[in-house]
Amino acid sequence: MATFKVLLLPGDGIGPEVMKETRKVLDTLTKAGVAGFETETSLVGGSAYDAHKVSITDATMKLADEADAVLFGAVGGPKWDDVPYDVRPEAGLLRLRKDLGLFANLRPAICYPALADASSLKREIIDGLDILILRELTGGVYFGEPKEIVTLENGQQRAVDTQVYTTFEIERITRVAFDLARKRRGKVTSCEKRNVMKSGVLWNRVVSRVHREEFPDVQLEHHLADAAGMQLVRWPKQYDVMLCDNLFGDMLSDVAAMLTGSLGMLPSASLGAEDANGRRKALYEPVHGSAPDIAGQGLANPIAMISSLAMALRYSFGLGEAADKLDNAIATVLADGTRTKDIAAKGMNAVDTPHMGDAIVRALKASM
Ligand code: IPM
Ligand code: MN
Repeated sequence: MATFKVLLLPGDGIGPEVMKETRKVLDTLTKAGVAGFETETSLVGGSAYDAHKVSITDATMKLADEADAVLFGAVGGPKWDDVPYDVRPEAGLLRLRKDLGLFANLRPAICYPALADASSLKREIIDGLDILILRELTGGVYFGEPKEIVTLENGQQRAVDTQVYTTFEIERITRVAFDLARKRRGKVTSCEKRNVMKSGVLWNRVVSRVHREEFPDVQLEHHLADAAGMQLVRWPKQYDVMLCDNLFGDMLSDVAAMLTGSLGMLPSASLGAEDANGRRKALYEPVHGSAPDIAGQGLANPIAMISSLAMALRYSFGLGEAADKLDNAIATVLADGTRTKDIAAKGMNAVDTPHMGDAIVRALKASM
């Protein structure tokens, strides 16, 4: 039986609650003989700041670097609103992404049939939706320099963020987009704002060239990012793979999340480049945040975290069959009418976080 090293970083807010349910799934897979998982748990975000005055320690970074995969919960909360910018909770996540070189962020948005009525959009718009937002994760305005607030001679302040992309950065994320599209419905929509941004002009040019030279069999279209936001709520099924820079991908994936019924449903995978042995660094996290308003009350939906584990099974552990079973277990539980509060339709009873985790574990066991 193969054994994998997994680093668990539950983080803040609802992070520890959803991670606890994900551990149950890992234990179930181990007991069923699917694979062995050597887990370590460490602090990140506000909880790391409270203990160590940094949002992630070098020791935790080392564990992340050595792991076959990192499972990450969520970070942040009002408790840390006033901590220095460099050690704010989010900085821990950004350091993981940057230092591990996790440039490709896959955010699939799938609408489970049983949840089509939980979305704020009409059923026919989202029923059967299956799109993938591919977000560039280590460049753009998140990391561009200068990034500062300076005080001017007249006493005013001036804030600068820098949106910057190089050919290489655009090429490598573009190749991931086309590769993914080849395994799906064969279409990529690249989103930028070339009408106002130089980085958008270069993005558009590089994507078009990589398409022409390497992937002419895949369909490519370009949308202005603002129009893509509009189209996402008007007729999302026109999309297959949406290729976005770091900031547009952040925004459009939150929009896409609501199409599926709740932000509590969306998993993500952040992948690095393949090394000589075909292995890549990887971090898996729900798209939702730490939701401090509902933390500690058993209200959190663990599905996004658990389906992030399904992505880890698929992309890091080569356990595609187990991943399918886990995805099916989630679909089964939803079809049976098990709901946490965020996805419960009017008149439906909602279960708490552990009950949802247990229901998924039961459905998974039944399929193995
Ligand atoms: C996300 C989050 C992060 C981001 C925050 C927590 C830094 O919103 O993963 O989408 O902006 O990338
Ligand atoms: Mn976000």
